[in-house]
Amino acid sequence: MTAGHTLSTEDLRLAYDSREVISGLSLEIPPGRITMIVGPNACGKSTLLRGLARLLAPSAGVVRLDGESIHGLPPKEVAATLGILPQSPVAPAGITVTDLVSRGRYPHQGWFRRWTEEDEEAVAEALRATDVAELAARDVDELSGGQRQRVWIAMALAQRTDLLLLDEPTTYLDITHQIEVLDLLTDLNRTHGTTIVVVLHDLNLACRYADHLVAMRGGEVRAEGPPAEVVTEETVSEVFGLRCALTPDPVSGTPLIVPVGRHHCDEAQVPKSI
Ligand SMILES: Nc1ncnc2c1ncn2[C@@H]1O[C@H](COP(=O)(O)OP(=O)(O)O)[C@@H](O)[C@H]1O
Ligand SMILES: [Mg+2]
Repeated sequence: MTAGHTLSTEDLRLAYDSREVISGLSLEIPPGRITMIVGPNACGKSTLLRGLARLLAPSAGVVRLDGESIHGLPPKEVAATLGILPQSPVAPAGITVTDLVSRGRYPHQGWFRRWTEEDEEAVAEALRATDVAELAARDVDELSGGQRQRVWIAMALAQRTDLLLLDEPTTYLDITHQIEVLDLLTDLNRTHGTTIVVVLHDLNLACRYADHLVAMRGGEVRAEGPPAEVVTEETVSEVFGLRCALTPDPVSGTPLIVPVGRHHCDEAQVPKSI
């Protein structure tokens, strides 16, 4: 696997019918790094991710993969370079875990190419890494939300693409599996140089795992950069409309956001600046 594919947008506009959600967004995804996208509900994170993965065509502007408009590239070439796990994927009825994860290998198969040992190995490793090997023969329909989510992550991993986009991959997962998934993505990044883009709800975990943090609101990028630079009480207030105190995460040293709320605050203890 070679790192270094580039993904960027320029004046990107994305709309559903005539309703524009992303209005002129320019973004460069740092190659070989982990980018986390955060922002309030409905601000356009999933829409942006779908646009980046060419699942949604721009109404104006461009998404570039290695400098070329992604919509002009052959779909199979894009699929072999860039994998996406959408927010609410739907599995075909009655499919088993192994069959679903094996579908991650399809972009790698030519017309005349058979299923190879490398395909076999990629599927087995993805099942193992996501802790679902023992569910391999089960129907995906029968699994719990958390088990199913890990199966989808396995499918995304089995693709072994240089670029991996994941939309809220930790949804439904208990805290242990959330950390495992984020550790796993970090391993992938460190070992293979995979460029990873994640939409994440949990701001504190985003701060801990991101090299590059993108904070969105109203379809725009309001701030981006290393978490320690992006996350201030002012940005959290501007982006999320939330009063918070910041303290260093005792484990990682990255910013830890502590919400103020209306019921548990002793105003005397809240810093004057917020
Ligand atoms: N398929 C769709 N058709 C029409 N509107 C959509 C569709 N998907 C999302 N939207 C709208 O686009 C806006 C942004 O949604 P989304 O990108 O899913 O936000 P986020 O992922 O940040 O929560 C929302 O107002 C949402 O209702
Ligand atoms: Mg979303």
